[in-house]
Amino acid sequence: MRVLFIGDIFSTPGMKVARDYLAQAADEYDFIIANGENAAGGFGITRKHFEQLRNAGVDVVTLGNHGFDQSEALELAEETPRLVRPVNYPPGTPGVGWAVFEARSGERVSVAQAMGRVFMDPLDDPFRALDDVLEGVPEEQAVIVDFHAEATSEKRVMLYHLAGRVSAVIGTHTHVQTADETVFKGTAYITDAGMSGVQASSIGMGFEEVHARFVAKLPRRFRPAGGHGTLNGVVLEIEGRHARSIRRLQWSAPTGG
Ligand SMILES: [Fe+2]
Repeated sequence: MRVLFIGDIFSTPGMKVARDYLAQAADEYDFIIANGENAAGGFGITRKHFEQLRNAGVDVVTLGNHGFDQSEALELAEETPRLVRPVNYPPGTPGVGWAVFEARSGERVSVAQAMGRVFMDPLDDPFRALDDVLEGVPEEQAVIVDFHAEATSEKRVMLYHLAGRVSAVIGTHTHVQTADETVFKGTAYITDAGMSGVQASSIGMGFEEVHARFVAKLPRRFRPAGGHGTLNGVVLEIEGRHARSIRRLQWSAPTGG
């Protein structure tokens, strides 16, 4: 089974490049996951964005710390398991932290998301939360984990924790694609899949306002960077529970920057 994981889609340029890429490449994949927590101007996702991604061929949209910035996402999470939020949120949080889906190859694939706790808001233990998820998944089925976390060490220790037990641990949230993709004990891994959006930016936001906050120490409202986006992601080849390969992907429209 060939799986595409699209890294954090950031604002309008990220949505555009993701849809442009999928318009010509969605057929190449058996299953497509996209992190969409920054689709709405960097802060959350609306029903419109979710539907646009679904219509473009995305099977599951994962969230993160900005997942519920737009209240529409709270409603949406109650309506569909195809919007997956962190599994280690408090009990009673709307939506699901993992679910089982059917790929176009006919195989079953579980998608789970957990959020890290280093340099992030306190949450339940993501390691134990994912152990609990695995108890519910039949053996031999693919399991793909989006680990939305800040610290490289926490992400790499999640690989160690889940190695051989899941098909892939894909890091998201830090928005710069890392070059450490590997298959370790049958588990594909990358510390960060990168951001789908304007790369000449401060992880998606325009430089000017972020610079002003750092240098002048004055409050400035961040604005998403404008321009052509580049899609960042990874392509996974999975057989049963185990990954055979992981390949980084960076794509921009031929006419774009
Ligand atoms: Fe995030």
